[in-house]
Amino acid sequence: MSSQMRDYDLFTPEVMADHHAFLHRVRAESPLARLPQLDAYLLTRYADVNAALRDKRMDSANMAQVLQRLTPAEQQELEPVRRAITMWMGHTVPADHVRFQQLLKRYFTPAMVDRLRPRVRAFTHELLDAVAGKGEMDVVRDLAYPLPANVIAELLGMPTSDREQLQAWSRDIVPIFGNGDVEQIRRAQRSMLEMHDYLRVIAAERRREPREDVLSTFLAAEAEGIVTEDEAVANCVLLLFAGHETTANLIANGLVLLFDHPDQLARLRQHPELMPSAVEEMLRCDGPAGVIGRVATEPVELAGHPVPAGKHIYLALMAANRDPEVFTDPDTFDITRKRNRHLSFGMGTYYCLGAALARMETDECLRILLERCPGLRPAYEVPDWQPTPPVGHRLGSLPVTF
Ligand code: HEM
Repeated sequence: MSSQMRDYDLFTPEVMADHHAFLHRVRAESPLARLPQLDAYLLTRYADVNAALRDKRMDSANMAQVLQRLTPAEQQELEPVRRAITMWMGHTVPADHVRFQQLLKRYFTPAMVDRLRPRVRAFTHELLDAVAGKGEMDVVRDLAYPLPANVIAELLGMPTSDREQLQAWSRDIVPIFGNGDVEQIRRAQRSMLEMHDYLRVIAAERRREPREDVLSTFLAAEAEGIVTEDEAVANCVLLLFAGHETTANLIANGLVLLFDHPDQLARLRQHPELMPSAVEEMLRCDGPAGVIGRVATEPVELAGHPVPAGKHIYLALMAANRDPEVFTDPDTFDITRKRNRHLSFGMGTYYCLGAALARMETDECLRILLERCPGLRPAYEVPDWQPTPPVGHRLGSLPVTF
C-alpha cells in the first residue's frame, strides 16, 4: 500500500469525466492527498474516512468561514447570514451541538417517520396525478425536488398554501456556498431573513397552540430555557438546507442508476420488497453528500502523515463507499448487496438525524413511481449532470416518458 502524499487538482477534465475513476486512482496512489488550490487535504480510504468521522479532534467545518474570504464591507453586509449559520447545529461550538442534537432527537424518532409515511405517499400520488395525463415529466422538477420540500413544510407545520414559497426559499438558500459568489450569498441572505420572519409568525401561533411539528418541539425547549427563539428559527432553516436537495438528489440519482442497469430495474419491478436494499445501494453508489469537510482542532496523524491544527480536510464519502478493501466489486450496482456499510449519512458525532426519514421518502417515492408507471423510460441521450464543487455531481433535470 502506498504511503506517499501527492498533490492533486480537482478541476480537470479527468475529474469531470469520471470522478469515481479519479478517486480510485487517488486512493491507490496517495491515501492522504494534498489539494494545493483549496489549501486542504483529501481522504479516500474507507478506514481513514471512517476513523476521521469518529475523531473528536476533527470538527465539522463551519460553512460561515467561506464569508471570511469576502471584503470587509461585504462581510458587514452579510453579517446576519453569518450569525444565523453559526447557530446551525454542526456549525456551532461542540457544547451547542450537543444541546441542539438532544433537542432534535426529541423530534426525529421512528414514530415520527411512521407518522409521516402516509403523508409522503399522499404527496407522491398528488405530484404524479399532476403529470399523469401528459405521459412525460422532468423527475427533478416535478417529483424529486417538490416531494422533500413538502415533507419539510410538513415538519415545520407550514400550511399547504405556503409550500411553493418554501421551495422558492430553498432554491435561494441551499446553493449559498456553491462557489462563494457574493450575489448568490446576498440572495440567500434575503430569503433566509424572509423565512426567519415567516417562522416567527408561525412560532407565535404554536406558542398559543402547540402541534406535532418541529417548531412546537423547539418552542417547548425554549420554554424550558434550552434554546432561544433565534436558535430555533435558524435551525428550522438548517433542516431545509440539510434535508431538501440531498433527498431530491438521492431520488433522481437513484432513478438514473436503475435506468443505467435495466437488469436491476427489472428485478426490482419483480421484487418490490428489494426496495430498502436498493435504496442502500443507491446511497453507496451515488449518495448525495459525496464529500464533507472537517477542520483539525489540534495536530493529527492521517493515513500515517502529520497534519497541523487548523487544516481543512475533505472526507470523500463517495470514495470510501467504493473502497475495494471493504466492498466486493465496488463499481457494480447490485440491489441485493449484503453488509452494505456505506458512509453516505456520515458516522459518529454528526451522523445524519434525517437518515431514516430520507430512506423512507426515497423508498415510498420510487416504489409508487414504478408501480404507477410500468412504461417508465428515460427521455435523454446523456444525463444532465452538473458539477458540485469540490467534486461530485447532481442532476439539473431528468426527463422521462411513461
Ligand atoms: C439522502 C438524503 C440525505 C443525505 C445523503 C444526508 C447526509 C448527511 C450527512 C453526510 C451528514 C453528516 C455531515 C457531517 O458529518 O458533517 C448529515 C447531517 C445531518 N442531516 Fe442529513 N442527509 C440527508 C437527509 C436529511 C434529512 C431529510 C434531514 C432532515 C430533515 C437531515 C438532517 C440532518 C441534520 C440535522 C444533520 C446534522 C446532524 C448533526 O450535526 O448532528 N438530513 N446528513
